[in-house]
Amino acid sequence: MKDSEDLKMPRPVRDSQSEMAEIVLPNDANPLGALLGGRLMHWIDLAGAMAAHRHSRQYVVTASIDHLDFWVPVHIGDLVILRSSVNRVFHTSMEVGVKVWVENYLLDNCQHVSSAYLTFVAVDAGGRHLPVPAVVPESEEQQRRYEDAGRRRENRRAELERRRNNLR
Ligand SMILES: CC(C)(COP(=O)(O)OP(=O)(O)OC[C@H]1O[C@@H](n2cnc3c(N)ncnc32)[C@H](O)[C@@H]1OP(=O)(O)O)[C@@H](O)C(=O)NCCC(=O)NCCS
Repeated sequence: MKDSEDLKMPRPVRDSQSEMAEIVLPNDANPLGALLGGRLMHWIDLAGAMAAHRHSRQYVVTASIDHLDFWVPVHIGDLVILRSSVNRVFHTSMEVGVKVWVENYLLDNCQHVSSAYLTFVAVDAGGRHLPVPAVVPESEEQQRRYEDAGRRRENRRAELERRRNNLR
């Protein structure tokens, strides 16, 4: 049972760190045997949500996913590893970073496939937004991600505003 005071306490980044692994099967791939970008985006969303749930201990919805690049192809039989954690909390939203790796166990190598930044908003069962407890970076890398997340939020807001103006 959740204690309501506990839910408001700041939490270290490590509490949200999550890892997900998938073996690429034929149903995940195109006719050339390469992983579909859409399938990887789905896994990125799930891996991101895991970190957001662990941090906020609430339901969350995906508000946005930043630009994505796929740097190396992934094939049937490869092992895909997704690591996620909360970079920064704002008020009801939080930025989660997801880093994707592909492991080829036959060749014994591991390559970085993609990095993604997602924003999740915490909501109650009625869809109302909920405040999220602060996240505490502990390592230098976590501190760098925390600061970068602030800059990315400003860019996101400016871009959203620009797109809204274009639609008017
Ligand atoms: C995302 C959503 C909750 C935002 O609600 P809203 O009432 O439009 O937004 P608000 O202006 O009140 O902002 C709420 C928070 O979301 C953030 N936010 C809103 N739109 C955002 C966007 N496009 N990207 C990043 N963050 C966003 C705001 O910055 C704010 O964060 P803060 O409280 O930490 O400052 C709402 O648009 C929604 O429910 N969208 C559908 C989500 C969904 O179904 N996702 C699954 C994919 S289909």
